[in-house]
Amino acid sequence: MAGIGEWIKRKRFATAGHVGMLEERMAAISSEIGELRDSSAQTQDAVTQTQDAVTQTQDAVTQTLRHVGELEKTAADTREAAAFARRALEISTAGDGISLATSEHERKSDEEWFAAHYVDAADQLLGFIAASGLGIGGREVADVGSGDGIIDLALATRGAPSRLVGFDVSPTDVGELQLAAQAAGVDGVPDNLSFAESGIDSIPAADESFDVVVTWSVFEHVSEPLAMLKEIRRILRPDGFLFLQLWPFYYSDHGGHLWLTHGGGFPHLLSPNDEIIASLEGKTGTDARRPADDEYLSLNRLTLNELHELMREAGLGVRRAELISETVNLPNDISADLPLSDLLTSGVKLLAVPSPV
Ligand SMILES: C[S@@+](CC[C@H](N)C(=O)[O-])C[C@H]1O[C@@H](n2cnc3c(N)ncnc32)[C@H](O)[C@@H]1O
Repeated sequence: MAGIGEWIKRKRFATAGHVGMLEERMAAISSEIGELRDSSAQTQDAVTQTQDAVTQTQDAVTQTLRHVGELEKTAADTREAAAFARRALEISTAGDGISLATSEHERKSDEEWFAAHYVDAADQLLGFIAASGLGIGGREVADVGSGDGIIDLALATRGAPSRLVGFDVSPTDVGELQLAAQAAGVDGVPDNLSFAESGIDSIPAADESFDVVVTWSVFEHVSEPLAMLKEIRRILRPDGFLFLQLWPFYYSDHGGHLWLTHGGGFPHLLSPNDEIIASLEGKTGTDARRPADDEYLSLNRLTLNELHELMREAGLGVRRAELISETVNLPNDISADLPLSDLLTSGVKLLAVPSPV
């Protein structure tokens, strides 16, 4: 029988074996803990990266939505401009400075009138200036003879001048213009556009205070053309320019402004003046804001060469010009004394710069 010493020895041996196993197990557990720590750190990194990615995605989504909004606005603006352009195209008459009535004797609807000025006239004006290598963007612009202001509304928006002032002897009615813009579904009078009353031979503006002067379908009505041209020269800066459109010249087919009331070609050159004036009594002119007889009597009968002569005298040198002409049938009884060049010259678009006087 084994003694107590032998039993203790065996027990010690067994216990030492057990301790060894426990130490091995502890080492394994420590290693597992280390691995788990590493894995946890990696998971934390992954979580951080995922959060960054989520933030970036959110930013990208926000930017994309903003871009979509901008594109939608551009698309809406483009749709609106295209609709106007389509309407203007439908009613415009080839070559005219401004579209005539849909057919002679028929007044344009408000919508057609708005489109003819807001799109057609403004396009022609900006296009002619651009083709001359010039522009009105960021510049101070005066319009002499702003009328109902529709052209100026388009120029102030699309041409982006820093300031546009529309002058007229019959001041533009801003309330009416706002209503017209509203009815046409376009933005109203912007901050860079204002209107002021001018005199028949004076413009209330300081010397050399504008970079650009424009005038559209006005100079056939101006009673003191030389004085007004000198005023334009005075308010223009030395490096500025004038864009002038005149349509229709008096001796051309439509020169009497009688297309709403009289048939045939050149009616104003075929009947005595007093007969024409009597026939216009109580009627509205081609400019719906004006009585027809008043409009007729305002025509100054300038020819293209006379206009050019007055411009030279005022110190304005023509640098680019485009004739507006059309094929006409000349009535039998039209005066043979009238120069053919005047009968055929419907209008002109020109660009002039200050020259020494
Ligand atoms: C046929 S309208 C043209 C208006 C505008 N430019 C347009 O095309 O719609 C002619 C304009 O010239 C204006 N007018 C006539 N003589 C003028 C002058 N000396 N100075 C400024 N405006 C004048 C008239 O009051 C009228 O509004």
